[in-house]
Amino acid sequence: MRTKSQHISIMLLFRINFVLAIIATIHCVQGFHHTQKCPPTPAGDFTLHNYQLYPENAVWDPEHCLVYFSALFNGSISPLSPTTHRGTPSQFHPPLTFHHLTLTDGHHASGLHYTPATNLLTVVINSPKPFLTAGADVGGDNFLVQYDIKHGGEVWRVNLTETTLGRWGGFVDVGVVDTTTTTTTTRRAAYVVSSYPAGILRVRGGKGGKREVAVWYGPRGETTVEGYTGCAVVGDVMLVAGMGAVWRFDLSKERGEPVRLVGVEGGTNRVKLPEAYGGRVALVSQGLVGVTVLRSRDGSWRSAEELGTIRSGFPRELERIVPSTVQVGPRRQYMVGQYFPGEIVPGTMAGNRSDFPMFDITEEIEGLLT
Ligand SMILES: *[C@@H]1O[C@H](CO)[C@@H](O)[C@H](O)[C@H]1NC(C)=O
Ligand SMILES: *[C@@H]1O[C@H](CO)[C@@H](O)[C@H](O)[C@H]1NC(C)=O
Ligand SMILES: *[C@@H]1O[C@H](CO)[C@@H](O)[C@H](O)[C@H]1NC(C)=O
Repeated sequence: MRTKSQHISIMLLFRINFVLAIIATIHCVQGFHHTQKCPPTPAGDFTLHNYQLYPENAVWDPEHCLVYFSALFNGSISPLSPTTHRGTPSQFHPPLTFHHLTLTDGHHASGLHYTPATNLLTVVINSPKPFLTAGADVGGDNFLVQYDIKHGGEVWRVNLTETTLGRWGGFVDVGVVDTTTTTTTTRRAAYVVSSYPAGILRVRGGKGGKREVAVWYGPRGETTVEGYTGCAVVGDVMLVAGMGAVWRFDLSKERGEPVRLVGVEGGTNRVKLPEAYGGRVALVSQGLVGVTVLRSRDGSWRSAEELGTIRSGFPRELERIVPSTVQVGPRRQYMVGQYFPGEIVPGTMAGNRSDFPMFDITEEIEGLLT
């Protein structure tokens, strides 16, 4: 066991490294124009070493060459610099924390979206009650928080429960429109999808710099019917996983209208559109199965080819699941391994685990694409 002072000095070291890494990255960003500004990462599985990480979602940041993991139970975000071919070993930086939400009972970190054009990380902090009761209790507060990666610190947060009035919940993931990549006049907005039941809230800038939250779709049906589990945005299109399928929403519309794209058997978790495939390949993580790979050759997602499912030996009922996939570095795709917490360590929010596996599925995806 480390002593407290050792722990603090390690934290300080990480903090300094983090600042240095960001300065180095900003420096390097100015000289390059392409998406390949981050060094390649080596092939192969690896293990995340971070006490109580319990990663529920993850996103790749191609501007700062970081992967952000939402640490479910701690209600915080852990940035990782992955191992590179140059030999720099993977390293976690101090967590991004949220005042009154991080390390408090009743707030879990879940959905994540990183927007390279603005350097903003959008985070869903939800109430765990709906997930623990399968929608029987949708109480507790849900927040959408925007965090400025470049300058550090929270930009704004909204209390989503003010809009739902606590009548529905389970806000699990967020997609953000990047107006530099849309084809129509769709405004910049964040769309937050819910599980108990299916619904979508739209959050965008309103009068006087205040956030305006509107119900964009649903809520549909009883709270005990599980709805959406994940979402991903490309241009004006949002793919949403849930209810045994992947759905397409047109974000240029004033109200959400789901169009069923393709059925997915065995339950869904997140859906990702990895940067490496330019929004033409979708990875649907399936907690107890593995990952299903979809493709839209023209990237419009008017239709989807179902290429196949990468089955995993990792999941085990009520013990461990695959909640998400994530791109690590400019090319490689990983399945994230999540454990159930077991007994909560007294005085903390989570179980005692420090190791979480990452499974490299790049070659399997490539195999399905050819
Ligand atoms: C979670 O919080 C505990 C304190 O309760 C801390 O020791 C641990 O490092 C945190 N882990 C992460 C990934 O934030
Ligand atoms: C969030 O909004 C709900 C509903 O209005 C309210 O009950 C709750 O106190 C708010 N939470 C915070 C932290 O302001
Ligand atoms: C961690 O917790 C589990 C119960 O959830 C227990 O069986 C195990 O012995 C604990 N391990 C350590 C190192 O404390």
